[in-house]
Amino acid sequence: MKNSGNTILVTGGGSGLGREYARRWHDAGNTVIVAGRTLSSLAETAKGRENIHPVEFDVAAAAGDVAAFATGLCERFPGLNVVVNNAGIMPFENIEAKRDLGEAERVVETNLLGPIRLIDAFVEQLKAAEDAALINVSSGLAFVPLPKAATYSATKAALHSYTMSLRKRLEGLVEVIELIPPGVQTELTPGQSQRDGYLPLDDFIAESMELLAQKPTPSEICVEAVRAFRNSEANGNQQELLDMLAAR
Ligand SMILES: NC(=O)c1ccc[n+]([C@@H]2O[C@H](COP(=O)([O-])OP(=O)(O)OC[C@H]3O[C@@H](n4cnc5c(N)ncnc54)[C@H](OP(=O)(O)O)[C@@H]3O)[C@@H](O)[C@H]2O)c1
Repeated sequence: MKNSGNTILVTGGGSGLGREYARRWHDAGNTVIVAGRTLSSLAETAKGRENIHPVEFDVAAAAGDVAAFATGLCERFPGLNVVVNNAGIMPFENIEAKRDLGEAERVVETNLLGPIRLIDAFVEQLKAAEDAALINVSSGLAFVPLPKAATYSATKAALHSYTMSLRKRLEGLVEVIELIPPGVQTELTPGQSQRDGYLPLDDFIAESMELLAQKPTPSEICVEAVRAFRNSEANGNQQELLDMLAAR
């Protein structure tokens, strides 16, 4: 991925990781489009930065609406060459008892179907673009699930798999990168931005931006704090980490 001169779409750009990446990429000389459901937070991301463009968009929208969004955006920004699937939600759930599945379905729509639809809507634009890249934000929980966020963990494991397939199928056309955050201090879950044991947001952004700037860009952006999770199956301690997460 080029460090500057890109036109980058970041979903979930109104807070947390998406907001920080949008600002750093902007400041490095890229045009950035931030998309999300809350225009006021997107506007806050863009405040004082003339090349950040807020756009209201729900990644859980039906495929036809996502396609229409992509067509409109490519007309407005014909140089669009990077798409970042960052928007996500992480509710806690009790899967051991019968329940209303509405929330679990929303997690799948947002974290998995959303990226699949968005990639479909932008794939031809990306294939035709110079220096095209696609970044999917998964999670350390793709590799060791957190039982109290089972559907979330499952969507991230699926996104990891989908990203591997995409990387093969788009080889030589689009750089496909998986960004695998550890627990980071954002408001992904209530109170998480103040919780001990989570990486401070600035530290995570700085370390992951350094990895993204390497040439060639690593296919997986794995900061130090997430490597034990990423490699747990190979290292033979996945069960141990699962027990640790289950006790939380
Ligand atoms: N922080 C962590 O510990 C951590 C760890 C591993 C992975 N991640 C991943 O990193 C990504 C960013 O999370 P974060 O930590 O930065 O949390 P965050 O601050 O809650 O950011 C998530 C963003 O997604 C947007 N979003 C949610 N549903 C959406 C929808 N249907 N359509 C469009 N936008 C939507 C939210 O904005 P609106 O609600 O305004 O739309 C919000 O700006 C997520 O994919 C998350 O799973 C985070």
